[in-house]
Amino acid sequence: AELKLWGGRFTGATDPLMDLYNASLPYDKKMYDADLEGTRVYTMGLNKIGLITDDELVKIHEGLEKIKNEWASNTFVEKFGDEDIHTANERRLGEIIGKEISGKVHTGRSRNDQVATDMRIYVREYLLKLKEYLKTFILTLIKRSENEIDVLMPGYTHLQKAQPIRWSHWISNYATYFVEDLKRLTQIIERLNSSPLGAGALAGHPYGIDREFLAENLGFNSVIGNSLTAVSDRDFVVETMFWSSLFMNHISRFSEDLIIYSTGEFNFIKLSDAYSTGSSLMPQKKNPDSLELLRGKSGRVFGSLAGFLMTMKSTPSTYDKDMQEDKEPLFDCLLTTEHSILIANGVISTLKVNEEKMFEALTMDMLATDLADYLVRKGVPFRETHHISGECVRKAEETKKELNTLTIEEFKGIDGRFEEDVLQVFNFEQSVEKRVSTGGTAKSAILKQLKNLKKQLEL
Ligand code: ARG
Repeated sequence: AELKLWGGRFTGATDPLMDLYNASLPYDKKMYDADLEGTRVYTMGLNKIGLITDDELVKIHEGLEKIKNEWASNTFVEKFGDEDIHTANERRLGEIIGKEISGKVHTGRSRNDQVATDMRIYVREYLLKLKEYLKTFILTLIKRSENEIDVLMPGYTHLQKAQPIRWSHWISNYATYFVEDLKRLTQIIERLNSSPLGAGALAGHPYGIDREFLAENLGFNSVIGNSLTAVSDRDFVVETMFWSSLFMNHISRFSEDLIIYSTGEFNFIKLSDAYSTGSSLMPQKKNPDSLELLRGKSGRVFGSLAGFLMTMKSTPSTYDKDMQEDKEPLFDCLLTTEHSILIANGVISTLKVNEEKMFEALTMDMLATDLADYLVRKGVPFRETHHISGECVRKAEETKKELNTLTIEEFKGIDGRFEEDVLQVFNFEQSVEKRVSTGGTAKSAILKQLKNLKKQLEL
């Protein structure tokens, strides 16, 4: 028991399985850098209030640097009793600079404010990285949207052909979602960037450490104003996993569309070999596994969020060991999200668009709304024109014709206000170009959209 950091009051040994069950080092060692940085700044704070001498501070910082190199070069030797990254680093520091000095670094600190600090630093840095990846992905979407603005395709509701749109419009629909994800990410980073350090185990610091000084030196923009909150707040973990969940929700819908578009029946797009796999049995198969994994992994991310909310909901204030369960789901979410952004970016930048197939899939009945609009322009109320256009569709169906091949007599037979120029309605390009209002399918409206998205990326 004396091998343990907290072993003083214990006489009995821990059950070996309990040691394993209790240990978080296997997964929290990822945070070694944040942990060492936290200690580096914390000891500066102790030095500032006279609890550590200048000489001691230099030795401590050299020791921390050495430990960092060991972790980075994979030569850190883990030992029995290294319960988590905090105890492992402190144990090693003692071996390097002697316990006489290393024994002072934890003065007034608890692993409770320590772990909360480490987590916030770690998540902040990770999210800043994701932000860059996400920006790159959005830029890929915008570029593709600009390059292929002339490609038309069917737009769907209920997965039924609805109205013609531009392929670019489909792309920038998702770019719009992802820009919102980016903004949301920026807000989350801002909110989590508040410092718990110096809160102690729960009740605050007994030696008057300067928490603002600690916060500033760790790159935090504020100090958490209540020591109980400082050690117990895992809202940033929940928010991060919610962010991942919502992002993966968007990615999953994006993937679902592309999976459908890549089927033989649609044949709108062709995935690059780099993001497809074959079948071990059927030689002809090329499967969109990348997209299916993007869709499938979203479920895992939602599960992590739901699971951790359950973990937290009944924990009495303040720190409880339950909270150690924040790490595995969070790290899994972060890694899954990171890979998903990169894979989605790879898929969309390499797939080929089958422009002809998309165009062929447009059917004249998709212009039935435009036919109604034609009469609206002649002064007929829309509710009435909707009905008249519907009759035209029925007539075409009955006579097994395409809507645009009804004769002018047939149109006039349905409504006398149809004139010779009605046939001009049946032009897909013209239909998308009519929608010039903000957010519409006209080229000018899409270019405006893309410009606006790019502007928001600069934030
Ligand atoms: N490994 C622990 C965690 O991740 C560190 C905090 C431990 N604190 C405690 N009072 N046992 O939550």
